[in-house]
Amino acid sequence: MDLPWNDERSNQFITNVGLITSDGPFGPNVMACEWTHHISYKPGLIAVSLGHTKATVENIRTSKEFGINLCASDQSVLASVAGGYTGAKYNKVNALKELGFEFYKAKRITSLMIKGAVLNIECRLYKEITLGDHITFVGEVIEASNNPDKVPLAYHGGKYWILNTNVVKPSNEERDRIKKVIEKYSR
Ligand SMILES: Cc1cc2nc3c(=O)[nH]c(=O)nc-3n(C[C@H](O)[C@H](O)[C@H](O)COP(=O)(O)O)c2cc1C
Repeated sequence: MDLPWNDERSNQFITNVGLITSDGPFGPNVMACEWTHHISYKPGLIAVSLGHTKATVENIRTSKEFGINLCASDQSVLASVAGGYTGAKYNKVNALKELGFEFYKAKRITSLMIKGAVLNIECRLYKEITLGDHITFVGEVIEASNNPDKVPLAYHGGKYWILNTNVVKPSNEERDRIKKVIEKYSR
């Protein structure tokens, strides 16, 4: 069965907002991508899942590289612009600069990177896989840095959120009790 965009069930996921920077036939570009996932530690691999028609797809296919900038809580306007307009028709990077957002030159790739993001990762294309109606680009991490002063923007139900309440883990006594129950069911 299908699980369409904006369906109440699809909207139950909590995701981050990856801002994918790229450079290629459409020039310097940035798109918002909630399907941005860390999928391997050694080597560090990140998967992004993009619709077939995105300008970013052509940019990545040509350049074989892309940047991942995890959106910070004070960058929701950036996410909306990057996610609301296509680089096929608009120079979003220049528009965003005029709106006050800053980009910087990447160390190892041609794509620009975004200042003030929670995490900046430069990727070399590792694999392209078509899965259903999206294309998964897996990037190998070749440069990574984070910004400890920033908090990530979360995405849920088509809205942006800030995570600000920590769910307390069980006490030591409670953990002991859980462990005893688990042990009863060991194979
Ligand atoms: C918060 C947010 C998350 C998004 N996540 C994705 C995603 O995971 N995959 C995708 O293909 N498009 C996603 N989009 C839509 C693209 O960002 C949008 O189609 C954009 O215009 C594509 O840009 P491009 O054509 O310049 O590459 C998202 C949009 C927003 C606002």
